[in-house]
Amino acid sequence: MSELRFDGKVAVVTGAGHGLGRSHAILLAERGAKVVVNDLGGALDGTGASTGPAAEVVELIAKNGGEAVANADNVATPEGAEAIVRTARDAFGRVDIVVNNAGILRDKSLGKMAVEEFDAVLAVHVRGSFLVSRAAFPHMKEQGYGRIVNTSSPAGLFGNFGQANYSTAKMGLVGLTKTLGIEGARAGIKANAIAPIAWTRMTESLLPAEFERRFTADRVSPLVAFLAHESCPTSGEVFSVGAGRVARVFVAEGPGWRTDDLTIEAIRDNWEAILAEEPYVRPTTLGEQATASMKAML
Ligand code: NAI
Repeated sequence: MSELRFDGKVAVVTGAGHGLGRSHAILLAERGAKVVVNDLGGALDGTGASTGPAAEVVELIAKNGGEAVANADNVATPEGAEAIVRTARDAFGRVDIVVNNAGILRDKSLGKMAVEEFDAVLAVHVRGSFLVSRAAFPHMKEQGYGRIVNTSSPAGLFGNFGQANYSTAKMGLVGLTKTLGIEGARAGIKANAIAPIAWTRMTESLLPAEFERRFTADRVSPLVAFLAHESCPTSGEVFSVGAGRVARVFVAEGPGWRTDDLTIEAIRDNWEAILAEEPYVRPTTLGEQATASMKAML
């Protein structure tokens, strides 16, 4: 079987100084991509900054014979995001791949969560992914090619206690991914998202100790690389990935139940039918969803 390679391609990986991003950057470089290793170098809660983590990963890639440059800008500011993409263009002349991976945590239960803790988490995950994608998009459009991989989370797809900010951000990335997939389609740009699970500094205090050996970051990165590859056939989708397992996660709408005379009581009396899952439809755009709903209404 032929090896999938990235020769001639330029990738930006945000938050690549540690954990998953580091592993994605190393794999892409190993397969021939030129990589911008971005990392603000702060703590898990997003405080502080250091050029060290990005520089260390660049050094490692170079030692392995790969090509990479470091960038320590903040994905959450428009200037930072522009500078990250500019680094790719200045160093390597183009940008083909954006892996939006940078992330922070500020876990608290809802009643205890400060507005600042909500905003800070949305800023890095959602605003950061929007800003870096927006900075790269015109260049991808111009070259008629691009791949964007966003990083969602099972916490966003399914909910998690103590993560109102994080789960809001991570489901937000699903919407961003789907819309980028639609807006990029005509220009050969594909966007997909992963919902990973891996043993990193973000999860080491949350996951059982036996996960360390099996849930390694390098058992997530091959999916990111495939979604970032020219041969990826799919756009606008979300994939759950961890410990070497990959599965599609999809948003679907059940068959529904209708009446000409919708009352509160009618809803109560038909709740089971409203909750029914099969047969479901899986629209890929708002237009498709509207058409499917319209059909079910008539
Ligand atoms: P990590 O903490 O090891 O890596 C995140 C990196 O992002 C850090 O190196 C950090 O310095 C960087 N970063 C934070 N804010 C930044 C900013 N404003 N600009 C640039 N860089 C910034 O954590 P991990 O686990 O590798 O997380 C990577 C991504 O995967 C995150 O988006 C996280 O939410 C997501 N994720 C991880 C899961 C896991 O099981 N480890 C589960 C689900 C999602």
